[in-house]
Amino acid sequence: MKTYVVTGAASGIGAATKARLESDGHRVIGVDLHSTDVTADLSTAAGCAAAVAKVTEMVEGKIDGFAAVAGVAPSVDMPSRLLIGVNYFGAVRLLEGLRPLLAEGENPSAVLISSNSTTYQPNWPTELAEACLDGDEESANTIAERFGDQASIQAYPATKAAIAYYARTRSAEYIRQGIRLNAVAPGYTDTPMTRSGLEDPVVAEAIEQFLSRIPAGRAGRPDEVASVVTYLLGPESTYVVGSVFFVDGGIDAALRGKDWPKPLEFDV
Ligand SMILES: NC(=O)c1ccc[n+]([C@@H]2O[C@H](COP(=O)([O-])OP(=O)(O)OC[C@H]3O[C@@H](n4cnc5c(N)ncnc54)[C@H](O)[C@@H]3O)[C@@H](O)[C@H]2O)c1
Repeated sequence: MKTYVVTGAASGIGAATKARLESDGHRVIGVDLHSTDVTADLSTAAGCAAAVAKVTEMVEGKIDGFAAVAGVAPSVDMPSRLLIGVNYFGAVRLLEGLRPLLAEGENPSAVLISSNSTTYQPNWPTELAEACLDGDEESANTIAERFGDQASIQAYPATKAAIAYYARTRSAEYIRQGIRLNAVAPGYTDTPMTRSGLEDPVVAEAIEQFLSRIPAGRAGRPDEVASVVTYLLGPESTYVVGSVFFVDGGIDAALRGKDWPKPLEFDV
């Protein structure tokens, strides 16, 4: 039996990941705003520190895996500060806070949740992703707020790209401690997060149009994302380091099929 920590464990993909790991016989410590083992608000540094302290109290000096699934969706009503706080800084603060426990674990692995909005939503602000990667939350907030009521809509793919970049650019440093670090980029997945959008007729129509473009012809299910997260946390992926797995019914490949791989460019 291994010990895993999963944020966002009260709902959707996080709940499916917790359920899947528990059905495989593991201990899972859920972290969320409500309805799980550790109650914490991951939108603030203090909330993240409290979550790390509580998890540390609950385990015997080690954990074997961590999945940062907690997140919020963009909308005109979602404050971009909250979205940036949870989606990027909350994920990275938890990972960095739990890193000493992971380093003591057995074949430890960490999974961050990105999104395929990174590759289908046009023209999101790359400087916002860079500010996140630099750990500069105030600059990230300032860049987002320039977009007015579109702030969180522009910030969402930028924070999720920063998550993917963090996983890729920091994975070498993590694996030197034995910790595999990867990201999963879900596409449209049927969870409470996306179901709330269906209540608005305009958003619902846009969602229907989007769904019709997915090669698989349907939304994903939370368990279909959870199974990839579980694979990356588990013993079958011991040489997978710094990868971003798209779990999106084929839409990233359909839209961007030849953008990657591309040759390494260097001066001759
Ligand atoms: N559903 C999708 O289509 C989709 C697509 C791409 C990426 N994602 C990402 O997958 C992850 C999970 O999404 P989901 O669809 O399962 O959403 P969800 O709303 O069902 O679950 C998200 C969970 O995060 C928790 N959370 C939110 N703010 C928090 C905070 N401040 N502190 C602690 N916990 C907090 C919520 O309470 C909730 O339990 C998110 O990071 C989301 O951005 C989802």
